[in-house]
Amino acid sequence: MSVPFLLAPMAELSHRALRELIEGFGGCDEYFTEMISAGALIGGGPFEAYYIDAGPCPSRVVYQLAGADAGQIAAAAALLDRRDCAGIDLNMGCAAPAIVRLGAGVRWMADPDKAAALIAQVRPCTRKRLSVKLRLGMEADPDYLVKFCRRLEDEGVDFITLHPRTAREKFRRTARWDFVGVLRRNLHIPVAGNGDVADAADLLRRAAGDCDAVMVGRLALRAPWIFAQARTLEAQRMPAREIPAEPTEINLEETALRFLELLARYQPPEFHISRARRFFGYFCDNLIWGNYVKNLLGRETALAGMERVLTAYFGEHPEERLVSGVFAENSARP
Ligand SMILES: Cc1cc2nc3c(=O)[nH]c(=O)nc-3n(C[C@H](O)[C@H](O)[C@H](O)COP(=O)(O)O)c2cc1C
Repeated sequence: MSVPFLLAPMAELSHRALRELIEGFGGCDEYFTEMISAGALIGGGPFEAYYIDAGPCPSRVVYQLAGADAGQIAAAAALLDRRDCAGIDLNMGCAAPAIVRLGAGVRWMADPDKAAALIAQVRPCTRKRLSVKLRLGMEADPDYLVKFCRRLEDEGVDFITLHPRTAREKFRRTARWDFVGVLRRNLHIPVAGNGDVADAADLLRRAAGDCDAVMVGRLALRAPWIFAQARTLEAQRMPAREIPAEPTEINLEETALRFLELLARYQPPEFHISRARRFFGYFCDNLIWGNYVKNLLGRETALAGMERVLTAYFGEHPEERLVSGVFAENSARP
């Protein structure tokens, strides 16, 4: 059986519009939502309906909760338990200073007793699959990591995703994937690995390694077709399996404009610009003049203006519209 591919939770990015876009290329196995503030969710914040919109495939969506207060997180999990979803994930990995200062995200990893007590409080609130996404912790110490995760496992966590960098490293230095194997060999529950997947071949290489699932974040923004591309490559490497059709070309202009349409349809106007800028901050890396386009997009204050910028760019650079043969091996753009 194929190792599952997971879309990473990414604030302002892992929302319905992105899932729709990825589904359009063939989808992935599970989609984590961007982190949802437990406090805002139970308090009934004005945008919560958008955060918990699990379309278009609720049964493959995992809600990620973030917070510092165990009572709030437990209450939010109980609320999400009533919804159709694949599971509920707790954020113990976010290293953004604003989140850590509150006592949320990777801050949980500094206090194993407190983290275990959180799981003990949340576990009875949901019968859904309960997972935790975390980093290495404050230091790259395999013993600490294994002990910490065993406590979570003992309290009833069903699986763990490891982004193997320390709290301080943010995105510096490459992810230490050997820790994923270490953790997996020391737990009874599945362990997903995450970090720095570079292209479809790399995704398959990680999937064939020591992990139970592979989670992809930033690459899925640059190449929303990456999961489909990797599955096709996987099938091509298995002679016994039916080989999918001809290599397909991706139209970058159509993909960009489709994303704008999806944002307009599935996100509130207050979020349009910030979310579009975030997405194109990655997607424009496909373009030769990507930084220039990002700059132009950054000046726009409405989606219609962004659409004009993109259409004009591809009008001037028609040769950049198509990424050819993306489903053939070694074809991912650098
Ligand atoms: C813009 C951005 C927002 C992120 N937001 C979250 C989040 O809400 N929750 C979380 O657990 N991780 C978050 N992350 C971390 C990713 O889930 C992932 O662990 C990280 O990007 C490494 O994977 P990658 O190299 O495939 O991107 C975020 C990362 C980025 C780049």
